[in-house]
Amino acid sequence: MRQNVAVVILAAGLGTRMKSGKAKVLHEAGGDTLLNHVIRAALHVAPAENIVAVIGHQAEQVRASVKTAGIRFAEQREQKGTGHALLCAQAEMPTLAGQLLILNGDGPLLRPDTLRALVDAGGAENTGGALVTTEAADPTGYGRILRDEQGMIAAIREQKSASREELAVREINTGVYCFAAEPFWKHLEEVQPNNAAKEYYLTDMVEILRRHGYAVAPFLVADETELLGINTRVELAFADKVLRARKANELMLSGVTIEQPETVVIDVDVEVGQDSLIEASVQLRGKTKIGTGCRIGAGSILRDCEIAAEVTIQPYVVAEDSRVARQASVGPFARLRMHAEAGEDTRIGNFVELKKTTLGAHSKAQHLAYLGDATIGEGANIGAGTITCNYDGQTKHQTHIGDGAFVGSNSTLVAPLRVEKGAYVGAGSVITKNVKEDALAIGRAFQVEKEGWAKRRREQRGKKS
Ligand code: UD1
Ligand code: CA
Repeated sequence: MRQNVAVVILAAGLGTRMKSGKAKVLHEAGGDTLLNHVIRAALHVAPAENIVAVIGHQAEQVRASVKTAGIRFAEQREQKGTGHALLCAQAEMPTLAGQLLILNGDGPLLRPDTLRALVDAGGAENTGGALVTTEAADPTGYGRILRDEQGMIAAIREQKSASREELAVREINTGVYCFAAEPFWKHLEEVQPNNAAKEYYLTDMVEILRRHGYAVAPFLVADETELLGINTRVELAFADKVLRARKANELMLSGVTIEQPETVVIDVDVEVGQDSLIEASVQLRGKTKIGTGCRIGAGSILRDCEIAAEVTIQPYVVAEDSRVARQASVGPFARLRMHAEAGEDTRIGNFVELKKTTLGAHSKAQHLAYLGDATIGEGANIGAGTITCNYDGQTKHQTHIGDGAFVGSNSTLVAPLRVEKGAYVGAGSVITKNVKEDALAIGRAFQVEKEGWAKRRREQRGKKS
């Protein structure tokens, strides 16, 4: 982190080629917006308060989507080009000295190491700075780098203004620049919209600085993948794939086993502890945190969940905004949502749904249950087919089940309801009134038995035919 680096991120454009009602930088890859990825990279070379995002299209949504506190914003109401975007940023800059790093908001694959190296290269004394170039297999659409005899950049030629020979150049401008701030800001107003697109091109600054005696050096990066600017949804899908692979690799190198890593989908902010094992086709989304020594079963999808150590998530569990404590086991085919909490060593089995429900330590709900708006104590057993009837058509009501209670199979618990600790509910009951501590409640029609009835019926039928 350097205090003398200020960063401008260009994020005002709509991104016509995305064919979208949503501003380009709001589109997501690898579990976050394009802009947040760029900010994440920028934070490796500058503190948040030195970062200015230039916003325009859907400015309010873009502002709201930024996760990092302290970032500054500059508005560019009309998008008159990348050079104009810098003019709009000027008033918001925390400093006009030191180094000025400029990044396109649509380049989510940029690596922190590359940025650090660029800042080092751009800091050479008495120069105008440096900018990242790469040899593109297909340079179409990018600004071409024209070098002088010394190998410095003579000019950047945009696609629309380039001659035949210039179009053949494969070295391109990636939109990642590190300028010496003082000459840059001093001469920025010399950029004019005298090109085919009638836009203020930031790229003209290279020639302008050169005229004033400040050469700009190319900083050639071999891996063009890292420098991809996202313009279409095809490129967005590619960026997503690259970011997912990076995340999986990062986790594996930190001690997580992943089976068939190319099949898992893990968002950038997810954390997984050492010696956890992630089976194939798992999705870990949002801010999910998984402790050490867990196993996450195939096909499970966890979003914004907290899973403590040594938990087993069996295959095909779907969970959101929920927490699972140590040594619990969930699934297969279970659903947790809206702040469900499974305590230590709990067992949640197949086709069990927990919504806004706390299941105390060592309690079990092993098969086929809906537990909604309920607090369940420790060491309770919830039989197969138990349903909390929490909704009366207008309001949701609470169910409380005490420590050590036993709810027999196929019970219907009509809320609001309390089953106190140690109580039993007979199988097949419809319980509408509170059950006292250590009592047995049965709410069902008692069995009637008619001896010989079935036999007589069979005989009658036999006669008719
Ligand atoms: C730009 C460069 C080109 C380079 C390419 C790399 C210019 C003139 N050209 O072209 O040399 O090869 O990036 O990807 O800079 N933006 C604004 N305000 C504007 C215009 C753009 O904020 O008025 C933002 C966009 O939202 C985007 C970024 O700047 O995040 C780049 O704009 P874009 O239109 O994609 O530039 P390119 O044509 O790709
Ligand atoms: Ca672009």
